[in-house]
Parts: sequence; structure tokens; C-alpha cells
Amino acid sequence: MSAGMITTAYIIASVLFILSLGGLSHQEKARRGNLYGMLGMAIAILATLFAARVTDYATIIIAMVAGGGIGAVLAKRVQMTQMPELVAMLHSFVGLAAVLVGYASYLDPTHTYDDHAAKVIHLVEIYLGVLIGAVTFTGSVVAFGKLRGIIMSKPLTLPGRHWFNLGLAVASIVLGYYFVGAAGIDSGRIPLAIMTVIALIFGIHMVMAIGGADMPVVVSMLNSYSGWAAAATGFMLSNDLLIITGALVGSSGAILSYIMCRAMNRRFLAVIAGGFGVSGGKPKISDGAPGEVVSVSIDDTAEMLKDANEVVIVPGYGMAVAQAQYPVFEATKKLRDAGVKVRFAIHPVAGRMPGHMNVLLAEAKVPYDIVLEMDEINEDLAKTDVVLVIGANDIVNPDAMENPDSPIAGMPVLEVWKARTVVVMKRSMATGYAGVENPLFFKDNTRMLFGDAKASVEGILGSL
Ligand code: TAP
Repeated sequence: MSAGMITTAYIIASVLFILSLGGLSHQEKARRGNLYGMLGMAIAILATLFAARVTDYATIIIAMVAGGGIGAVLAKRVQMTQMPELVAMLHSFVGLAAVLVGYASYLDPTHTYDDHAAKVIHLVEIYLGVLIGAVTFTGSVVAFGKLRGIIMSKPLTLPGRHWFNLGLAVASIVLGYYFVGAAGIDSGRIPLAIMTVIALIFGIHMVMAIGGADMPVVVSMLNSYSGWAAAATGFMLSNDLLIITGALVGSSGAILSYIMCRAMNRRFLAVIAGGFGVSGGKPKISDGAPGEVVSVSIDDTAEMLKDANEVVIVPGYGMAVAQAQYPVFEATKKLRDAGVKVRFAIHPVAGRMPGHMNVLLAEAKVPYDIVLEMDEINEDLAKTDVVLVIGANDIVNPDAMENPDSPIAGMPVLEVWKARTVVVMKRSMATGYAGVENPLFFKDNTRMLFGDAKASVEGILGSL
């Protein structure tokens, strides 16, 4: 394959990656977006193998079959609710790969430089690649642990932690100066190794300091870092496609982090500085009184839904756990056939990953035109007869707006309590992901339907 053909293949792959990202931003085109991504990756791998003049195909095929096999089994087995953990783990691989490529590139005895400037540029690329890769690696491993529940989700707030971070940053800059100015590989690898340890510690400390409620932002931020780590690897290997792909992932992850921060009313820098999302917090139960919880039966809920003109369904993490989306759509169809206007309200951080609820509803074939984003539907909730909250908690917590002491204060929420009646479906009075109490459950117009979401919805379906 000539150099021209490889460049053409890389350009085609880059265009396919851009089309893929474009497709993934709309539910209707998401499947096509995935196909573009797969095709682009196949072209990219083939072109890279030809460009590197690989002759030992057996090793490549064994590696691809082993990697592809593990990936396929994991992707088949993983539950939708475990997706963020899987994504965090995959980000850690990208980070580790960037570190290993950086070291291999530095220690390669065959590497020659045209002039001093080219050498300095290559060394800076290696240094940055290893730095970003090491932060991404340990940060993603800690994020995996927090999402899995192996590591406490409470933020670790060491005294003087900002000074500690500043010290690590200054040390990395000084070490970088010595690394680039080192006379040879022997003297250069010492500052490189010390910086790697510092970056690994920084990755752990950065994510440990971020509390459970801010984890969505961490996942998308690490997504962005893994993109920049890949782009840095692309510079080290002089691979244009890796630079483009890394930049696409890096910038789309950064945009997603920004969108998430806006959705949770957090400032990005404040999230990174850590300390938010502390579990606990004082719930403000209406007028200081503990209030009373009123439960409701399946049959009464079905009656209420039948009698309503307008119903809004708010799905959350519990609907995903219970896999209730299929009976939910069956019930929706029945209600719509009976002339009830039914719509879905999606909070940007409902569930455990961006677009989690959209994916579940699309799986159950809910038409897109009745699935609305928070900003599109929040105002309509006040004139809604019944809001059915299915396994959601934090995203419908009035404390976010009414209690400045709450750990989730300021996060925009779906104002479901403004509807005539709210039915909350969950198994107990347990808190949600952020670990905070929810005064919604004690409001006069709230009814609690206790039980597994799927069993309850199937019961409602039976009654309908
Ligand atoms: P949560 O606040 O986590 O509440 C989910 C509720 O579902 C729980 O209170 C639980 O109560 C109930 N539940 C669990 N299993 C159930 C089942 N089988 N049947 C019925 N109910 C069940 O969920 P949310 O309202 O969707 O909010 C999302 C939270 O996750 C936010 O705090 C967000 O910041 C965070 N988060 C989001 C993301 C992204 S990107 N979406 C990523 C990481 C974290 P019971 O135990 O009483 O049943």
C-alpha cells in the first residue's frame, strides 16, 4: 500500500469517525453512527498494519482475536447499569497504553532526530503523553472502584489538598525541564520515572476528592483525558489518525463534561477541585415537620392513570435496575389508546450514564416524539394530572432547589411536586445515588407505590 493510499484511508476513517459522533447525538441515527464508527475503525486498523509494514501477521491476529473475544464477551455480559464502570475501566486501558507507548518511544535505541528542535518536540510529546496517560490510568481505576462500590463514594478531603495538588503540578513542570534538557536516556529516565509516580498519585487523589454526586462529570472528564492521552500517543508515533481520533474524543468528552456541569449546576473547576457531593446533608422536610408518607395500591394507581388527561413518566436508575421499560411502554400504549396524553421526562443525569434513559426507552421502542428533555417539559409539570416517578430519586428532589445546605443544592431537577398528584415507585424509603433524603416523599400530593418497579408496572398493566 503506497503512502498516498494510507493517507486516503486515514482521511476516510476520520470522516467516518466524525459521522459516527454526529450519528450518536440523535437517537434515530445512533445505530447508523455505531456502524460508521465500526467501519472507520476497521479501515484504520488495516491501514495502520500496512503503514507499519507488519510481516508477523500471526501475532497480530492472535492479539486481535484475544482482545476482540474478551471485548465481545464483556459487552454481551455487562448490564446497562454497569456500563459506566466498564467505560471507566476502558479509559484506564487508554491511559496505560499512552504511558507504555511513551516509555517505549523514549527507550527506542533506533530513534534518530533530524535536529535539536525535532528532539525537543519529541521529548515534550513523550513527557505530556506519559503525564496525561498516568493521570487517566489511576483516575479511571479509582472511578471504576467508586462506581462499583469497592471504594467509598464520599469525597476524600485531605487538609491542604489544593497545596498538595499545586506542589505536584510544580514538581512535574520542574522535572519536565530536567527531562527535556537531559544529556541522554540514562539521565532522562530518572525525572520521567519520578514524574510518572507523581502523575499516578495525582490521578488517585483527584478522583478520590470528588464525591458520589459529581461522578457523572468525572466519567465524562476521564473520557476527555483518555482522548488527549490517545492524541499524545498519536504525536509520539507520528500517526495522524490517532491524533485526529484522540482530539475528537478529547473535545467531545470536554463538551459532555461542560453539559453535565450545567445540568448539575456545578462549575467544572469546582468539581475538579473536589469536595462536593458529600453524602449526608440535612434534608428539609416540609415546614420542618417530618411529614407523613402515604402509600397507594397498584389498582388505585391504575385508576388514577385512567382518569387523567395528562400523565408524565419520570424514569430513573430504578427503572433500569428493574428492567421495567418494556411493561412501561405497554402501559403507555394502553393509556394512549384510551385517550390519555402520556409523555416521558428525561433528566440529563438520570440513571448512571449520559443518555441512559433514552437508550432504555429506545430499546422498548417508545416513540421519540413523546420523550422530552428536562428543559422542554419542566414548565408543563404544573398542569399535569399524574406524574409517575419510576425508580428515580435525586433527580426529583425538591431540596436541590429549596435547601441551600443540601449536598445537591443548585442541581436543576424535574419539578414533579407541582403536578396534581405524584406517584413514586420504589422499593423502600432508601436514598438515591447522592445519599440524601428526599422531602418529595412526604408532600401532601405524593403517593408511594412500594415494590420492584417491574412488578408494580406489570400490576398496573394488568389493572388497565
Ligand atoms: P437515584 O437517585 O440513584 O435513585 C434511584 C432509586 O431507584 C433509588 O432510590 C432506589 O430506591 C430505586 N430503585 C432501585 N432499584 C429499584 C427497583 N428494582 N425497583 C424500584 N425502584 C428501585 O437515581 P436517579 O434519580 O436516576 O438519579 C441519578 C443519580 O445518579 C444522580 O445523583 C446522578 O448524579 C447520579 N449519577 C448519574 C450518572 C449519569 S451520567 N446519569 C452517572 C453517575 C451517577 P429503593 O432502594 O428504595 O428501591
